[in-house]
Amino acid sequence: MKTYTTTHNRKGFSAPAKLFHWITVLLLFIQYTIGWVMPDVHKDTQPIGLISWHLSIGSLIVLVVLIRLAWRLTHTVPPEPTTLPPPLQTAARATHWLLYALLVAFPLMGWANASSRGWEVSLFGLIPLPPLSPTGSVLGHEMGDIHQVFAWVLLVAVGLHVSAALFHHFIIKDDTLRRMLPRRR
Ligand code: HEM
Ligand code: HEM
Repeated sequence: MKTYTTTHNRKGFSAPAKLFHWITVLLLFIQYTIGWVMPDVHKDTQPIGLISWHLSIGSLIVLVVLIRLAWRLTHTVPPEPTTLPPPLQTAARATHWLLYALLVAFPLMGWANASSRGWEVSLFGLIPLPPLSPTGSVLGHEMGDIHQVFAWVLLVAVGLHVSAALFHHFIIKDDTLRRMLPRRR
């Protein structure tokens, strides 16, 4: 039988859950900014400057998300707010798992694309990571195109998620947002 560790009190998310959540938000914000201001990537582009930062922050995101997911799969979180009808509670939970799935799959596509270009992906030049696809791989190349499209898919999913959080806070006026915030009023 599966056993879970309970790490939250009935009022809100535990400190690690909040920390993982807001670190991910911060890293994604930085990563999107870099992704959109860095030079366009072409056939002979070298992974220097902002592109190098994109690879390093991206690797950090992969690491944080994998640790977060391992933590999440072994711990419970507070139940969905009862202010929602059951189908919407299910939809909210499904959206959270969709976000987790996107957070894992999306950076791996960028990584596979970087590897197919023969770029070494590393954590800030300190810890080299293995290539995810062979140099010149057609699949790795296509992953780059999908990575660009998925940047928008993740953004739309996050947009829905944030709208839901704000709807809870300002329209339904329940505790949903407060229980994910660093300090409860
Ligand atoms: C969640 C993390 C990530 C976010 C939010 C993100 C976001 C972006 C964005 C917004 C772009 C520009 C898309 C465009 O020009 O329309 C991009 C391109 C790119 N990213 Fe990421 N990225 C992430 C993770 C990674 C990782 C981990 C790597 C590699 C280790 C990576 C490698 C690349 C490459 C190589 C491109 C250029 C793709 C091409 O033009 O073919 N990304 N990324
Ligand atoms: C970069 C964007 C974001 C991502 C990827 C993200 C992802 C997630 C995930 C995966 C969960 C589920 C936690 C769990 O049950 O394990 C969650 C919960 C939550 N997020 Fe976000 N989030 C983001 C941004 C935000 C922002 C900006 C807000 C606030 C406006 C927010 C508010 C919340 C709240 C209130 C919960 C708890 C929902 C509940 O009680 O069921 N999130 N988020």
